[in-house]
Amino acid sequence: MREPVRFGASKSKTMRALLAWVTASSLLAGCSSSFDATRDAQSAAAAQARWRSSVDAIGKPVSEADLSAWNIDVAPNGHGLPDGSGDVATGGRIFAAKCAACHGAKGEGLIGDQLIGGAGTLTTANPKRTVGSYWPYATTLFDYINRAMPYNAPQSLSADEVYALSAWILNRNGIVPDDARLDAHSLAAIRMPNRDGFVPDPRPGKL
Ligand code: HEC
Repeated sequence: MREPVRFGASKSKTMRALLAWVTASSLLAGCSSSFDATRDAQSAAAAQARWRSSVDAIGKPVSEADLSAWNIDVAPNGHGLPDGSGDVATGGRIFAAKCAACHGAKGEGLIGDQLIGGAGTLTTANPKRTVGSYWPYATTLFDYINRAMPYNAPQSLSADEVYALSAWILNRNGIVPDDARLDAHSLAAIRMPNRDGFVPDPRPGKL
């Protein structure tokens, strides 16, 4: 049988050794002269300058035109929506050609999400979170389609096409009438059914 290890004794020995080392090293640190500190700062600045010039040598400055191609965010209040417009009937034709294969002819969902229906289900045992039943802002629909759809060819649609698709999806969800034509102004003015269904999360640091 092995002797039980006596933690108490060996632990305090280790602590003493550690304390001696810490004291010794802080004394040594106190010895470094201000000359060394200046030299260290100078060589750090030189290294920083070398790094900066090597970075500056890569690529070319980004132009406003390059930036604007990426700057496509649409805010909930409609800020960032482009010029253009589209109506429900046109949207229906584009949907059949470019979206129905994945989302179903009526937006009922296939390999892509259900986009239409689900109204009134959020408080039931089987909630259906669709654009119509769940999304708080119609402007997000424009942003999402414009940015990410069709899934196989994102950012291939014109602003007019995205307005038309938004009009058709909102119409089939009973949110805009059959003769609706949407543009930056009218899209931002839409009040979605679940607009007040979200609350801010008060927990600090939580998403
Ligand atoms: C190749 C299949 C495919 C095609 C075509 C396609 N989608 Fe999608 N769509 C998807 C998938 C998959 C998702 C889910 C993506 C995810 O969650 O990351 C999606 C998500 C969406 C959503 C978000 C739904 C939600 O509730 O989160 C919208 C809106 C949408 N698509 C609209 C369209 C429109 C409009 C078109 C036609 C221009 C289109 N999609 C074409 C596959 C497709």
